[in-house]
Amino acid sequence: MTRPIDAWPRVVFEGLSFRSPAPGGPLFLMDPQDIRAVFVDEADAFTQGAMFRRIMRPVWGEGILTSEGAAWRWQRRASAPAFRPAHMDALAPLMSGAAQGALDRWSRGGRVDFSQEAARMTFDVILDSVLSGGEDFDRASARSRIEGFLSRNLSPRLSLYMAPDRWHEGRSLPAAPGAESLRRDVDAMIRRRRSAPPRGDLVDLLLQARDPETGRTMDDATLRDNLLGFIVAGHQTSSVALTWSIFLASQHAPTASRLRNEVAEVAGDAPIGPDHVGKLVFTRQVVSEALRLYPPAFQLYRVCVRETVVGSHRFRPGDKVLIPIYALHRHRRWWRDPDVFDPDRFAPDQPAPDRHLYMPFGAGARVCLGAAFAMTELVVMLATLMRGATFTVDPSHRVWPGTAMEMLPRGGLPMTVELRTQRRS
Ligand code: HEM
Repeated sequence: MTRPIDAWPRVVFEGLSFRSPAPGGPLFLMDPQDIRAVFVDEADAFTQGAMFRRIMRPVWGEGILTSEGAAWRWQRRASAPAFRPAHMDALAPLMSGAAQGALDRWSRGGRVDFSQEAARMTFDVILDSVLSGGEDFDRASARSRIEGFLSRNLSPRLSLYMAPDRWHEGRSLPAAPGAESLRRDVDAMIRRRRSAPPRGDLVDLLLQARDPETGRTMDDATLRDNLLGFIVAGHQTSSVALTWSIFLASQHAPTASRLRNEVAEVAGDAPIGPDHVGKLVFTRQVVSEALRLYPPAFQLYRVCVRETVVGSHRFRPGDKVLIPIYALHRHRRWWRDPDVFDPDRFAPDQPAPDRHLYMPFGAGARVCLGAAFAMTELVVMLATLMRGATFTVDPSHRVWPGTAMEMLPRGGLPMTVELRTQRRS
């Protein structure tokens, strides 16, 4: 399958806007001021579009990801406190536990496909944090059912979303196989958790979530749609980001040794815990740079719903906008040595990049709800893995970003793993 980024012309990496020649195709925007207008100043004129909701609702239901207007606003307000950075730091032990679990699996070293290993680690994290510690599920069968569900539904549906409007005319949408049984499982877990003593985890925080303006709480169906949405939004994206972070660290010996020195200084050989996360400053820089070079959400779409003007562009209802995040993050005009891996761009003494230029988590009111979750997870896992092992990419494998709808390396990431130390138990 061709990657959308292969169809992007050079101008997307160098210019400020580009009109797709396809009939009804989107306007690409690469000027941070215009992007700010779409996501912030004129945000009510641009939505993800009716097509997005039509396609995704059978999979995600009516949660934050697929709602608009008042239905979105109260759910977002109610959930936001559960995703505060302080709560995320408290999840560090289960995140380092998932990475340590991988090191234990590789105890004899050898060859692995790191992209599959990363998927397993981030799945363990999401299962433990979002699905009640997984104790209500058989972990292995939950993984294969959810992964099967995602591969049957997510990428194919995202491709439909990108298809031109005329393609959709007169066609009905395919059903979402597996959605009903997954919903039943999560419903059962929620019922059990409502009557169980609180554990103070993310599920508890969401069970108690309340819109601060109206006091409204989530009923079981809304909570279930959101929990499933968090799995879909947070599993694959984090796994892609972890894969590229390890790839880049494995390619740059000075980065690998700075990472190891930092972890040794901050945590010694103890498991990475809540007190270490904020101190792993260089580790966070590496993750930020990996998200710049290989953004898991490599493009964002919006559809205009009321006439408006953005910079020199006039939009009418139905017009489409595409923000080519991958190109924006490597744009010739905005970055020094755009294709070079340089984590020091994100050093604390450097000016932070414009938030409408560097936007791996999106921007504006619909910025990723799980950004702090993902950053904590990636920092904790990168630190744990780099301390515990040396990773060498199979020299015969050409590492190339991007299958059709994901930023994963094509053909996986075959690596040799050699364990370095075992942490204190
Ligand atoms: C590296 C990992 C991640 C990346 C790169 C990422 C990226 C994004 C982006 C770009 C958006 C905005 C989409 C748009 O504007 O159309 C988004 C939204 C969202 N993300 Fe993430 N995400 C990540 C991890 C997570 C995690 C771990 C969770 C939950 C546990 C999560 C939950 C969400 C939700 C609920 C939204 C929708 C927010 C709204 O519409 O109000 N994400 N994400």
